Amino acid sequence: MALEIRPVTPDEFDALCAFLEEDFDDSSPWGVVDEYPLVFASSNRANLMVAVENGEIVSHVGMKTVQFRGPSLKLRLGLIGSVRTSPRHRGRGLARLLMQAAARRLFEVGAELALLWTSIPGFYEKLGWTVAGSEFSLEVSRGKLPVAGIGGIVRRLTPDRWRDVVALHERERLRVMREPSEYEALLGIPGTTTYVLDTADGPTAYGVVGKGRDFAGCLHEWCGSADDVVSLVRGVLEITRRETVTLIGPPSRQDVLERFQRLDLTPEPAALGMFRVINPRSLAQQLESCLWPAGIPWNLSWHDEGVIVSSLTTGEPFELGHDDALRLLLGLGNERFALPEALGGPEISERLPLPFYVWGLDSI
Ligand SMILES: CC(C)(COP(=O)(O)OP(=O)(O)OC[C@H]1O[C@@H](n2cnc3c(N)ncnc32)[C@H](O)[C@@H]1OP(=O)(O)O)[C@@H](O)C(=O)NCCC(=O)NCCS
Repeated sequence: MALEIRPVTPDEFDALCAFLEEDFDDSSPWGVVDEYPLVFASSNRANLMVAVENGEIVSHVGMKTVQFRGPSLKLRLGLIGSVRTSPRHRGRGLARLLMQAAARRLFEVGAELALLWTSIPGFYEKLGWTVAGSEFSLEVSRGKLPVAGIGGIVRRLTPDRWRDVVALHERERLRVMREPSEYEALLGIPGTTTYVLDTADGPTAYGVVGKGRDFAGCLHEWCGSADDVVSLVRGVLEITRRETVTLIGPPSRQDVLERFQRLDLTPEPAALGMFRVINPRSLAQQLESCLWPAGIPWNLSWHDEGVIVSSLTTGEPFELGHDDALRLLLGLGNERFALPEALGGPEISERLPLPFYVWGLDSI
């Protein structure tokens, strides 16, 4: 029977979940539906792309589209995850075919850029993906934190107080938009614990540790002032009786980084994930609409080989490869990109990269 590349049907849904579970040799009482409730939801079925041969699912790529909001940048992002080919069918180009189908689907539903997290970047690089974006990771040990001065009480959050988290998260400068039901689904993922700092002013900080089989011992979503984040981390260590916790977050939270550096803790910069341009025209428009108000008067013209960046002030076009363009605009760890004079030189490179981040809770 011919190979079919298409969204999973309702009848195949259980078989798909069993197929994806095959790679996990742990004895978790939960499965992919519990761990990724917004991905493996019936409303998202059209975004679960399968390769089916002789009635058997042999490969899968999952997607979810989200709206990213920053202070200037707004993007429709396609997130990709749960990429798997059955061991017997590897090396036949199935994952490549599904990734191409996924890119077409994301284009149709209006995504400008796609993002994924992986431990095998080489596979995705072959398919035109680029490592880019920035985050920091900071291992905080109990001994480094001030004993006194916790400005409040840290508690494990109970579901009746989820709206406190919603209110705090919605003040975040960089975030993916979530419906109320989506917060509930994400905060309820097994293995996920949310902590809140209650102060005299009410709840002022929260943090999320763990998520399904991911992010163990890692605070991967949090907010609050720098002092409140220190208090939150201290409280999390006390409640969990752990010696260390890893804080990951956006480099734009310079205040938090400096606060921990004063405690003699050193953040490690890292890339955020892997990216692929889905709709070059629309992406260029979105980027220009935040570059211009930031005093970066560039026209971007994306084509198959690269990007032509034309500075409206110098009038000179400059060609960049796709990888360099994404890294210039979205960053790469803490690497600094030296801008050629044709594009405005150092004073403009100071204003880049554009603030961009996706919290761990949204990852798929
Ligand atoms: C990674 C995986 C999805 C690849 O599936 P596949 O159907 O065999 O991939 P394809 O046959 O389409 O391979 C496409 C290309 O990627 C290469 N490739 C495959 N696996 C790779 C890997 N782990 N690292 C680097 N390149 C890889 C192939 O050699 C091929 O290159 P070519 O076109 O130059 O020959 C499959 O090995 C798998 O399911 N692994 C376990 C789950 C996993 O790691 N998923 C990714 C999590 S982010």
